[in-house]
Amino acid sequence: MPEGISQKSYLCGMVYPIVAYGDPVLRKKAEEIDETYPELDTFIQNMFDTMYASHGVGLAAPQVGKAIRVFVVDAEAFADEEPYLENFKKVFINPIILEEKGTKWAFNEGCLSIPKIREDIMRHPEIVIEYFDENWVLHEETFGGMAARIIQHEYDHLEGILFIDHINPMRKKMLAGKLKDISAGRVNVDYRMRFPK
Ligand code: CO
Repeated sequence: MPEGISQKSYLCGMVYPIVAYGDPVLRKKAEEIDETYPELDTFIQNMFDTMYASHGVGLAAPQVGKAIRVFVVDAEAFADEEPYLENFKKVFINPIILEEKGTKWAFNEGCLSIPKIREDIMRHPEIVIEYFDENWVLHEETFGGMAARIIQHEYDHLEGILFIDHINPMRKKMLAGKLKDISAGRVNVDYRMRFPK
C-alpha cells in the first residue's frame, strides 16, 4: 500500500463522472430494478469507487446518470462522533422508507452534484427502512443520527429531490446564481463531473 493512499482510494474499478445540478436525470423518479439487472455487481463496485474518488459519504445512481433505485453509503467518516458508523458501508436497492421519527435536527449538508454549496437541512433523527442489499437479501432496519441523515439524503435522490429543495424559498433564491454556474460548468471541483450544458 503506497504511503498516503488510503485503502479506500486504492481501488481498481471504474470512476464515473458525477452528474451536475441541472441535468434532468436528477429530477426523475428512479425506477425499481430486479435481479436480472445486467452487471449490477460491477455497477455497485463502480458506485463505491466513484464515491470514494470524490470523497462522498453517499452516492445515488441518478448521480451517475442512471435513474434506478440504488444508492451506496459509507459513513465511516463520522465514526469519531458516532462509533457505530465504523465499517458502515452499505448498498440499498429498491429502498422504501417506512417511517421517519423524532424531532427534526439541522446539519450542514452538501451534495456531490451541487458542489461548493452547503446548507443547514432539517431532517428526522430516526428512520425505519426496507431495502435489498447487494445479495438481494431483504432487510427492515432502523437507523439513527448521521446514518439516518445520509440515507434520507440519498433516498431523496431516487425521488428526484435535492437537498436544496428543503431550504426556504428565499434562501434558495439567493443560491440561484451559484446553481446556474454549476449547471453551466463554471465550478472547480477535484473530481470528474458531467455538466448538462
Ligand atoms: Co446528494
